[in-house]
Amino acid sequence: MPRIAVYPGSFDPLTNGHVDIILRGAKLFDRIIVAVLINAEKKPLFSVEERLAIIRETFKATANVEADQFSGLLIDYARAKQANVIVRGLRAVSDFEYEMQMALMNRHLQPAVETVFMMPAEQYTYVSSRLIKEVVALGGDVTGLVPAGVEARLNRKKRTQK
Ligand code: PNS
Repeated sequence: MPRIAVYPGSFDPLTNGHVDIILRGAKLFDRIIVAVLINAEKKPLFSVEERLAIIRETFKATANVEADQFSGLLIDYARAKQANVIVRGLRAVSDFEYEMQMALMNRHLQPAVETVFMMPAEQYTYVSSRLIKEVVALGGDVTGLVPAGVEARLNRKKRTQK
């Protein structure tokens, strides 16, 4: 049976912390599907299409990384993709409670799918999409914290908003 993992999230935008987790997952699983949540309630900075394009461009050289979108229950999406694993990154203790609740709820809904947590490299433990957006909006430099394509798009958005 192929080991298929889903790595779900908002990815608004993709950070180097996400990239680090995806590359670790790509070594462990036959396929890793980076699944962007379509969340009608949130007003994202990047459209779902932009986020998918960023993921595809960042991982064009890694054959077993795919990008997709989903709505509804994550566990239903995982089953539809025949995934046996959900991957999540854990940066700090502050992530733990929310992640544990989600992992146990997903296990309650579908015991056959296991959640696997991975730690990103230390230099990304403080990086989050929310802080990246805030720092860029206030004129700070995020070089090295996001893929080059994300940085270029963030700067472009900033210029057109002025
Ligand atoms: O990166 P994020 O925004 O923290 O990711 C959260 C995500 C997408 C993993 C979570 O919101 C999710 O799984 N949403 C889908 C709806 C769902 O399945 N909810 C029940 C979770 S136990």
